Amino acid sequence: MIEFRNVKKSYKSNIILENFNLNIDSGDLVVLIGSSGCGKTTLLKMINRLIETTSGEILVNGKNIKEEDPIKLRRSIGYVIQQTGLFPHMTVKENIEIIPKLMGKADGVIDKKTNELLNMVGLDPEQFSDRYPVELSGGQQQRVGVARAFAADAEIILMDEPFSALDPITRTELQEELFNIQREYKKTIVFVTHDMDEALNLADKICILKDGEILQYDTPENILKNPAGPYVEDFVGKNKIWSKPEMIRAEDVMITNPVTVNPKRNVLQGIQIMREKKVDSLLATDKTGKLLGFVTLEKIQKVENKKALIEEIMSSDPACVCEDMSLPELLEVFNNLKRGYLPVCNAEGKLRGLVTRSSLITVLSSQYIEMGGNNDE
Ligand SMILES: Nc1ncnc2c1ncn2[C@@H]1O[C@H](COP(=O)(O)OP(=O)(O)O)[C@@H](O)[C@H]1O
Ligand SMILES: [Mg+2]
Repeated sequence: MIEFRNVKKSYKSNIILENFNLNIDSGDLVVLIGSSGCGKTTLLKMINRLIETTSGEILVNGKNIKEEDPIKLRRSIGYVIQQTGLFPHMTVKENIEIIPKLMGKADGVIDKKTNELLNMVGLDPEQFSDRYPVELSGGQQQRVGVARAFAADAEIILMDEPFSALDPITRTELQEELFNIQREYKKTIVFVTHDMDEALNLADKICILKDGEILQYDTPENILKNPAGPYVEDFVGKNKIWSKPEMIRAEDVMITNPVTVNPKRNVLQGIQIMREKKVDSLLATDKTGKLLGFVTLEKIQKVENKKALIEEIMSSDPACVCEDMSLPELLEVFNNLKRGYLPVCNAEGKLRGLVTRSSLITVLSSQYIEMGGNNDE
């Protein structure tokens, strides 16, 4: 875990950061994002003491980094920057092995690790080990930069706009690669960018900065859904959530007050409730809100015995979906079940809401209309 505690950084009278507090959990990929000059690089370089704090503390796994030897500290933290920082007179292999060699690891161990790392970043060791940086494309150089940062088995990796100079396709490729690597290796990564799409693609948590202050620190999903104020909203782009349908959940699109019925009521009463509420189906729940079954108007009207209880005639297997089911999954369920609506339940089986085919269409279409309107602004 990396903790900033009351950190201040100033250059002469110019205060860059003040009262800065941030916790980065181990194994998380946290993206620092903000416009140019807001202090991202400063924050990153303070973690490996390339820049010293003016006051306050930074702790790594509970230890104040001030008390550690800065050279050792730097070796134990991977660092990737935009200009790769590869040594031009060294081969790919030599570049990757600098720190492990300095650490005195055995040649055999280093060899094996280098091959593994090259494979990890999608470069064939046979083909690339002995090349020099100038013989590589920008994307390949940056892959080597990433491999080098992982070479020392560092627990923490700092990345300062590592993909910013790459063309959009290579950039997306490398983001994908990094995402996969992170899933496997679970490092603590602090990643700086000024690009929101990149942040959304990579981050476990995003920290939005402005003039050295944190405006919002949260998961991509929460930032998209509840941007903290107009600056964040603007930064995120109002309709960004709709470009990430997998982040839209059943609970975001459901009707939250579906019409329910006590299953001990009889058919006549059921029909009466449907008429009153102008619905063509009822969800039967128990006292605790647990979903027990459902009945449609079509079915209930066919029941001869109007005194029969709802529980005797209802379908007791109401295929319900979870609150956190994503929009694409939801659409798939709708298509497979050929049903007009789906109850939404929480993990305990309690009814939370109802998604209907038409409410889904309304939500989707109103969003597209809004997006169309925005283009004209
Ligand atoms: N060595 C320095 N001396 C004076 N000011 C600096 C120095 N380094 C950075 N700054 C200032 O600190 C602020 C934050 O810089 P930086 O952390 O590089 O921003 P970012 O990476 O977010 O673009 C900027 O206003 C920059 O001009
Ligand atoms: Mg910077």
